[in-house]
Amino acid sequence: MEDSYVFRYMREKDIDQVLEVEHASFTLPWTREAFYNELYNNKFAVYIVLEHNKRVIGYCGVWIVVDEAHVTNVAILPEFRGKKLGDALMRKLMEVAQELGARTMTLETRVTNEIAQSLYRKLGFQNGGLRKNYYSDNQEDALVMWVNL
Ligand SMILES: CC(C)(COP(=O)(O)OP(=O)(O)OC[C@H]1O[C@@H](n2cnc3c(N)ncnc32)[C@H](O)[C@@H]1OP(=O)(O)O)[C@@H](O)C(=O)NCCC(=O)NCCS
Repeated sequence: MEDSYVFRYMREKDIDQVLEVEHASFTLPWTREAFYNELYNNKFAVYIVLEHNKRVIGYCGVWIVVDEAHVTNVAILPEFRGKKLGDALMRKLMEVAQELGARTMTLETRVTNEIAQSLYRKLGFQNGGLRKNYYSDNQEDALVMWVNL
């Protein structure tokens, strides 16, 4: 079978597979309820999944408030990393956010997450400030990054 990759908006039926990506990617994974709330109760939230042959292998999300887009999460399943899919997913998110009216995009990333920072820099993000002790598992600081869309 030929490989097919599809980007589309996340739906409730994707939550199980998104949770797999989430648990394989973060030390403080979001819960099922958190994703459910994002989909149904947060009018600012937009979530996109990346499917490989109908299986969700990555996802990302953003809150769009007026003209500012705040990225909540970006993750790719470990076995699919290093294939430019995170790059493609972020570019898709930037495109969608722009279409929905955002003019800037911001995000926080762990100061030690050099892979993510390298990806964001490649996409034009610049360093903003630090949020001290932002992550509750190890009190790590967050680096704020931003880009004009
Ligand atoms: C961050 C993440 C989404 C990147 O996805 P990916 O598909 O592996 O990344 P890509 O293959 O698209 O690579 C894009 C860029 O990321 C950086 N990158 C990716 N893998 C890297 C590695 N092993 N070492 C250093 N930089 C790396 C590079 O800048 C790369 O660009 P290049 O290939 O031109 O050098 C993925 O590593 C992930 O899910 N990590 C766990 C969750 C996470 O940390 N999310 C970000 C939270 S802020």
